[in-house]
Amino acid sequence: MKAIYPGSFDPPTNGHLDLIERGSKIFDELVVAILRNPEKSPLFSLADRRKMLEAMTSDFENVTIDTFDGLTVDYALKVEARAILRGIRAVSDYEYELQMALMNRKLQPGLETVFMMPADKYSYLSSRLVREVAQLGGSIDCLVPELVAQKLREKIDMAHKFEKGERLAANTPSEGKGKSRSRIKKA
Ligand code: PNS
Repeated sequence: MKAIYPGSFDPPTNGHLDLIERGSKIFDELVVAILRNPEKSPLFSLADRRKMLEAMTSDFENVTIDTFDGLTVDYALKVEARAILRGIRAVSDYEYELQMALMNRKLQPGLETVFMMPADKYSYLSSRLVREVAQLGGSIDCLVPELVAQKLREKIDMAHKFEKGERLAANTPSEGKGKSRSRIKKA
């Protein structure tokens, strides 16, 4: 059976990788599908996220990476997948995931959503927290693969250089971390 694993993956984490590995063991084919969402302004470009996921999953022969826009169910139909894989970390995920699964079933009754739990050591892990911890200088070791950590460091360095350049140009003192975070998002 072919399944898709849709998400934002901004950035992909070890929790995502754990789920991909589990999914690759129960499905014949698994397509990790990155949502192209023009309304969100992600930290990483679609191309960057695709490259990171491709590198992270290169050992899994039945896993491919793709991007999509529009409805997840339409994409699933297009690639002839019969299931949508989603991860549930804690009870707090459940309500949102249930709502989404039921809506997807209403839209496309033939498509099943399959929930899997990542290893408990990743149950607190989210892309949002990884971004925040990295931007505030905390350690993200063991939360993301080394290549993602490296990309995050590059983004943060770039944002700091950009902010320093702006300060020098304006000849104004540092405005603190809050300001630098907003720059990081745009870098
Ligand atoms: O990683 P995320 O951000 O939790 O993934 C959410 C995602 C991409 C699975 C969800 O937003 C989605 O399916 N978006 C595509 C648009 C869509 O189908 N919306 C209706 C969902 S019921």
